[in-house]
Amino acid sequence: MSKGQVDALLGIVFGDEGKGKVVDFFTPHYDVVARFAGGPNAGHTIIFDGKKFVLRSIPSGIFDENKINIIGNGCVVAPDLFMAEARELEAAGYQLTERLHISRRAHLILPTHRVLDRAYEAAKGKSKVGTTGKGIGPTYSDKAARIGLRVGDIENDFAPKYEALKARHLQILADLGFTDFDITEEEKKWMEGVEYMRKFHLSNTEQEINRALAEGKSVLAEGAQGSLLDIDHGTYPFVSSSSTTAGGVCTGLGVAPNTIRRVYGIFKAYSTRVGSGPFPVELFDETGDTIRHIGNEYGAVTGRNRRCGWLDLVALRYAIMINGVTDLVMMKSDVLDTFETIRVCTAYRKGDEVTTEMPYDTEGWEAVYEDLPGWNTPLTDIRTEEALPQTFKDYVAYIEKATGTPITILSVGPDREATIMR
Ligand code: IMP
Repeated sequence: MSKGQVDALLGIVFGDEGKGKVVDFFTPHYDVVARFAGGPNAGHTIIFDGKKFVLRSIPSGIFDENKINIIGNGCVVAPDLFMAEARELEAAGYQLTERLHISRRAHLILPTHRVLDRAYEAAKGKSKVGTTGKGIGPTYSDKAARIGLRVGDIENDFAPKYEALKARHLQILADLGFTDFDITEEEKKWMEGVEYMRKFHLSNTEQEINRALAEGKSVLAEGAQGSLLDIDHGTYPFVSSSSTTAGGVCTGLGVAPNTIRRVYGIFKAYSTRVGSGPFPVELFDETGDTIRHIGNEYGAVTGRNRRCGWLDLVALRYAIMINGVTDLVMMKSDVLDTFETIRVCTAYRKGDEVTTEMPYDTEGWEAVYEDLPGWNTPLTDIRTEEALPQTFKDYVAYIEKATGTPITILSVGPDREATIMR
């Protein structure tokens, strides 16, 4: 934590690194928790006091009445889904309106954006992105095309703006021959969501955050998705449509680069990916199934099977470079407890070409592995670094050496306590 500065907490691979657990013990140290990118495509599972919440658009500091939570300008918001998410928290006894502020500059996901998401995917045939279907891509497309609707638009004369954009979408859908849908009910809920959103602070959050920083307050920028799903630096076109990397913290919150102090890069002791796209370390065999089963690797938003593989150092090094990661956070180490041998991808090969740098087009590359001994010991009940098996310590040291970056937090189990700070 740093006063008057921003720390970023980012998933640095393909998302689903287990941010939910980490933010839970990070947030107490910050005054403001802010989301800077993405929308309801995210699913941050938070478990505490025997209760489980899946946060999609709402920042993870929401459970603490003393924190200000911000949905920043880089985010996209679906009013109906936001309402459902917020009401669940309200039903559980959390008073949200004072502690949740939404940027007027964040863009709105319309029901027709979601239909467009489906229509574009259907039109893609075999090269589908495998989106979450939440309308993320079409909403960011409208933002870039300068025709999108923003949260601030709901504050005045909203209906004609909404109808105009909807009409435009319906025209595109008709042109695509994608007409077999009915959004009547969805639209009703969506409008209800718009009304509901009015009771929150819709504000110029970039001013608010900078004011907080000037007062010496600390801000945690909470990432969504992962670095390799970044619109610029990910495995394009199999990416999400926002800036999920450290650069996105600046653009998505309106904070200057020199306000960012620490960048925590979260990764798992192995790799997963949801949706389509290149994934050189993917395991199609029993080992992949075992990792999926032990790691419970099924999507929090879509329920889809996550694709599983060994740790990818090519990807990790690239993400550390792009983000300026100062501290690594390794999650789900215990999932590898039962393996005799643990493989680590150190390079990619295509034909005679071998590279240790993330290639422009990751399609068609296969992983080059180094084999390391497994620790074959349950880690979950271990609470101190000294008590960790030497083979596991060697695995950690190997990753630190290969990436040139310290791993300062090790997670060895799902519980809050199953965490070793170094
Ligand atoms: P979209 O963000 O719904 O457009 O999906 C684009 C790609 O990003 C798809 O492959 C999704 O599976 C993936 N994706 C989006 N959000 C997440 C996330 O929170 N975790 C992991 N993958 C995600």
